[in-house]
Amino acid sequence: MKGIVLAGGLGSRLSPLTRITNKHLLPVYDRPMVYYPIQTLVEAGMDDILIVTGGYSAGDFLKLLRNGAEFGLRHLNYAYQEGEGGIADALKLAEDFADGGPVCVVLGDNILENSIATFVKKFRHQGSGAKILMCKVPDPQRFGVPIFDGERILRIEEKPQAPQSPYAVIGVYMYDNRVFDIIKTLVPSGRGELEITDVNNAYIQTGDISWEVIDGWWTDAGTFDSLLNASNLVAELKARSGEKKVAIVK
Ligand code: G1P
Repeated sequence: MKGIVLAGGLGSRLSPLTRITNKHLLPVYDRPMVYYPIQTLVEAGMDDILIVTGGYSAGDFLKLLRNGAEFGLRHLNYAYQEGEGGIADALKLAEDFADGGPVCVVLGDNILENSIATFVKKFRHQGSGAKILMCKVPDPQRFGVPIFDGERILRIEEKPQAPQSPYAVIGVYMYDNRVFDIIKTLVPSGRGELEITDVNNAYIQTGDISWEVIDGWWTDAGTFDSLLNASNLVAELKARSGEKKVAIVK
């Protein structure tokens, strides 16, 4: 399976930190933010990885990451997202890269304590459709939130004012190649973006989707509070486990 890191957007919630650089290049403890989602994919066994970026400082990703040797990779692929079309619009750029196969997508500001390797393995066995991951959070209204009927997800609401469950759908998504056809059917949401939640809702309608609740902590890093929290969580983890989690292959 191929891996995709979505690292575009203007990061306007972090202005002025993002006035002259891309959100995903900002530091989270001792690494640029984008290192963590790349590491998540590499740890789960993916060695063919596409970075989709855009907006400011796109060239800095190449200067920073080069061929991905720090992650034990032989090369990295890059794509440039024009404008501000949202997460699903950025994913659209990965169609040629995916080459008919399944993909594992990680949002460039999502950081996890634990490996996603077992979920990736289960998705391989699933064979088709989609797999999404969830985490219980104190502030679900900031995220995509599932509505359940027992074990079945009825739909996902994007940033609901009155969340109907305490879970966030985290920014790690596994899709078969149909995802690219689904994206072509989407229309922009109220915030003018093609929403990844609409992609997931399309898979829910077909019934070909599985979900799991992850162990350990997860955070995004797209607001001042979550960026600070992410740095603190990584620092604590590093103190606890030495270099284990955030080890970079030299
Ligand atoms: C995006 C998705 C949301 C998801 C979140 C995870 O939100 O739209 O469904 O829960 O990432 O980080 P955004 O970062 O665009 O606010």
